[in-house]
Amino acid sequence: MVSIMENIAENKRKRVLSGIQPTNTPHLGNYLGATKNWVDMQNDYDCVCFIADLHAITVRQEPAKLRAQTRETYALLMAMGIDPDRSVLFVQSHNHKHAELAWVLSCFTQFGELSRMTQFKDKSSKGEENMNLGLFAYPTLQAADILIYNADLVPVGADQKQHLELSRNIAVRFNNAYSPTFTVPEPHIVKATAKIMSLSEPTKKMSKSDENPNASVFVLDERDVIIKKFKRAVTDSGTEIVYREDDEGKAGINNLMGIYCAVTGSSIADTEAEFAGRGYGDFKASVGEAVADTFAPIQSEFKRLMGDKAHVDACMKSGAERAIALSAKTLAKVYRKVGFYGIG
Ligand code: TRP
Repeated sequence: MVSIMENIAENKRKRVLSGIQPTNTPHLGNYLGATKNWVDMQNDYDCVCFIADLHAITVRQEPAKLRAQTRETYALLMAMGIDPDRSVLFVQSHNHKHAELAWVLSCFTQFGELSRMTQFKDKSSKGEENMNLGLFAYPTLQAADILIYNADLVPVGADQKQHLELSRNIAVRFNNAYSPTFTVPEPHIVKATAKIMSLSEPTKKMSKSDENPNASVFVLDERDVIIKKFKRAVTDSGTEIVYREDDEGKAGINNLMGIYCAVTGSSIADTEAEFAGRGYGDFKASVGEAVADTFAPIQSEFKRLMGDKAHVDACMKSGAERAIALSAKTLAKVYRKVGFYGIG
């Protein structure tokens, strides 16, 4: 198999960059909407994928927990199918160049721009007490993550669109101030798998922070827990398993159908035919089983990897080395362009 470094050397494929915070254990919506796509993208792109631990400390973290979550998230990405050989998979803090570039880029980011970021505004308006500088500068660090690898594409959900837009503006601003240095990244809009809604309030998006434990299904939930959550999924008083986009009150059953189709690869029409004449209860159990079947191989591979610390650590180390090698040129260029004195 051709390794990513050879591919990159030949520079034939577009480069995709994605980041995930170690504090976000992925739920079904994250899996279908994001991480599963990263796995599939490895076939067509050079993928750079990292665990954003620098971003995680913008919110106070318990050190031992953050350390554990970092290895867990890394192992989970591997278990899901991000291949540390075919892709560059690493931990952000292991490549110190992100923080170095972030400083330079912070001098190319306007105070007003950061003040307008909705994520920042949301946090400050909610009366968050720990409004630290890192939280304010968060999008500039994210720009550094992206620009240091000259990423062509960044898969983005709605919540990260504004941050990508800022990255693009910073790139253009720097390129105009000096000479072309950064690739201006494009958003990669993933072709729609159904938006995954909460199981208990199906007009709301599935969220990791939902207070109702039955609302979200996590990738590492045990089989019986997954099935139980689906059995409790809120639907309506109907009986037929059909998809009705615009009908009032059908959000629950529509959501379950979307999930079933996404995990089995079946179409809406085939699903309707498969469950014709069967009730909601039966269908809910089948969706639960299909989701549990999807997560089962990920969970067993995750368990295996968590038992092989030496292997995961070795992958992290080589991922970090590749990330450093891949970003060295860009940072050196930036340092030269802004006028830092080089000593060879
Ligand atoms: N802010 C992103 C999130 O919370 C994580 C992230 C950090 C990221 N750096 C990135 C995503 C660079 C894409 C590109 O989801």
